[in-house]
Amino acid sequence: MKICVLTSGGDAPGMNAAIRAVVRSALAAGHEVYGVRDGYKGLLEGDYFKMTKNDVSGFLSKGGTALGTARSKEFNEEKYKKSAAKKLEEEGIEYVIAIGGEGTAKGARDLAKCSNIKTIVIPATIDNDYPGTDYTIGFFTALTTVTDALDKIRDTSSSHRRCSIIETMGRNSGFIATFAGICSGAELVITGERPFDKKELFNKVSEWAKNKRQHAIIVIAEKVCDVYHLADELTEKTGFDTRATILGHVQRGGTPVPFDRVLATELGAYAVSLIGKVKKDLSVGIINNELVSMPVDVALQQKQDLDRHFELFKQTR
Ligand code: F6P
Repeated sequence: MKICVLTSGGDAPGMNAAIRAVVRSALAAGHEVYGVRDGYKGLLEGDYFKMTKNDVSGFLSKGGTALGTARSKEFNEEKYKKSAAKKLEEEGIEYVIAIGGEGTAKGARDLAKCSNIKTIVIPATIDNDYPGTDYTIGFFTALTTVTDALDKIRDTSSSHRRCSIIETMGRNSGFIATFAGICSGAELVITGERPFDKKELFNKVSEWAKNKRQHAIIVIAEKVCDVYHLADELTEKTGFDTRATILGHVQRGGTPVPFDRVLATELGAYAVSLIGKVKKDLSVGIINNELVSMPVDVALQQKQDLDRHFELFKQTR
């Protein structure tokens, strides 16, 4: 069978390992594999090329995505999806394996809905905000980067007797921030999932200042507030000298940690094993250490348990 593979949305470490697993296991099963450049944008433009085993050499340790990625607005429109499907059908391509997050999954689901193309989604995003799996490809690498940054910031923070605010990525999800709090023993974690009580924060930091704490680390998920402004306010109103650091895109880069390489390899090979068995669209994942597959809509309705980890953070503070 002819299949194609693409990466879409924000890149995540381990995407290349997933591409490698798809290409190698598909070739081993006798399929022909086409790599799509720049995600759904490449699908619209018919920008794909036949891949060989050697094309994915050295991919396990490579950060980013070698196929390229994009956030294609056009692909949201049905007429463009239909035209992408027509191009695929003309080439005799029957399956699209899409590696990415929620937006990628919705794109794959809708492509299958408006055509005869079958789609399989492999969840990869640093945010871990994809409910059809316990962990997404890239999350643990980003967490490693954030933990390393927090350890470093703590050194300088305690040398200067400062309070440090660190803003993490995560889109609307607090997974990175909460897990980083657990890994670094931060004093506080603030995420969009819980109400942010500014007054309570000011009281806490004033108390820390009064008790002459050596340092304090506050991890805040992106989109909660303007962390630079908050740092200035805390310094001014509590007397605890506070600095803010936005970690930004550094969290998306770097060589994937072994867990992400293994996860990507498992999910890539598993996705290929489903070729020929998909009705419309499927999403693969790993739940309670079991490989699972379910339609994208079912995957997106699953519940994610961040509360357990937030409680763990608080309990071990
Ligand atoms: O989804 C991954 C992510 O890094 C989010 O954490 C962040 O909100 C977003 O992508 C940033 O996207 P961009 O790189 O397009 O600005």
